[in-house]
Amino acid sequence: MKIIVIGGTGLIGSKTVTKLLASGVQAQAASRSSGVDTTTGRGLTELFAGASVVVDVSNSPTFDGAGALEFFETSTRNLLRAEAEAGVQHHVALSVVGTERLSGSGYMPAKFAQERLIKENSIPYSIVHATQFFESIQKLAGLATDGTTVHAPPVLVQPIAGDDVATMLCNVSVGAPLNATIEIAGPDQYRADELARRRLMARHDLRKVVPDPRARFFGAEVDERSLLPGPDARISQTRFEAWLSQSVERAYGTLRPPEAGSGTRVAGSETWM
Ligand SMILES: NC(=O)c1ccc[n+]([C@@H]2O[C@H](COP(=O)([O-])OP(=O)(O)OC[C@H]3O[C@@H](n4cnc5c(N)ncnc54)[C@H](OP(=O)(O)O)[C@@H]3O)[C@@H](O)[C@H]2O)c1
Repeated sequence: MKIIVIGGTGLIGSKTVTKLLASGVQAQAASRSSGVDTTTGRGLTELFAGASVVVDVSNSPTFDGAGALEFFETSTRNLLRAEAEAGVQHHVALSVVGTERLSGSGYMPAKFAQERLIKENSIPYSIVHATQFFESIQKLAGLATDGTTVHAPPVLVQPIAGDDVATMLCNVSVGAPLNATIEIAGPDQYRADELARRRLMARHDLRKVVPDPRARFFGAEVDERSLLPGPDARISQTRFEAWLSQSVERAYGTLRPPEAGSGTRVAGSETWM
């Protein structure tokens, strides 16, 4: 089985390729830095020769609505066309929990359009909807910064470790196509403002995080539960506190104790790792 990981140099892609190779699977990363461009189709025909599975974890260089839509529609069409010509049997894509209900955002409808193209195509597929990555919390805080103040909506989030996302993508990509969307999330729920505050504090980032009910998420108005997965979501094991301690240790060389946890354990969650 040869698996091509589009966006294989990115946050999730690089972890996925490493895990697949460690499991003895023939995996190959592809992105513009390796001469493959999904927006033009450059390099796809040669890349897909002999491949049975394509995992798409690429991301748009721009998050504005029109730019992101252009990226995901053009890329997905090019990928699916080249996959059909090469006889690829399984297309796996990573998307975001809530794409179908965050229509006020510019970025989420672009991801929704990507998913629609995949579902309408004849190539068997699996779509994995993940919640926000632990690694992305700081970037998300950056998107909402006004001077030295970060405005975050005080809504519930259930973030997940990038490593756990990659593990799930590996499991899905070596299995039979689901022809469905599954959701994955971390074990604990937080208020988005609380989570951003903890992440910034751990990095000695002095910006102030304020709960702001008018703050948007990628441009979308969100309510208390808009960003949460449904009851059938698969729940991973890595806790934010453990990940934060390790990431602080990697950054500063010392292990600082995490603050007392205030995340809520999700009752009755299925553990998939
Ligand atoms: N951040 C979150 O919290 C979150 C939550 C759920 C789902 N997701 C989804 O997860 C996916 C992966 O996110 P990520 O953070 O791992 O992305 P990332 O780190 O930004 O990586 C993006 C990858 O896409 C590649 N790429 C960009 N343009 C390309 C092009 N034209 N042709 C080929 N490759 C291209 C990049 O490599 P080059 O620059 O070398 O081309 C890179 O390898 C995204 O689709 C996102 O929607 C994110």
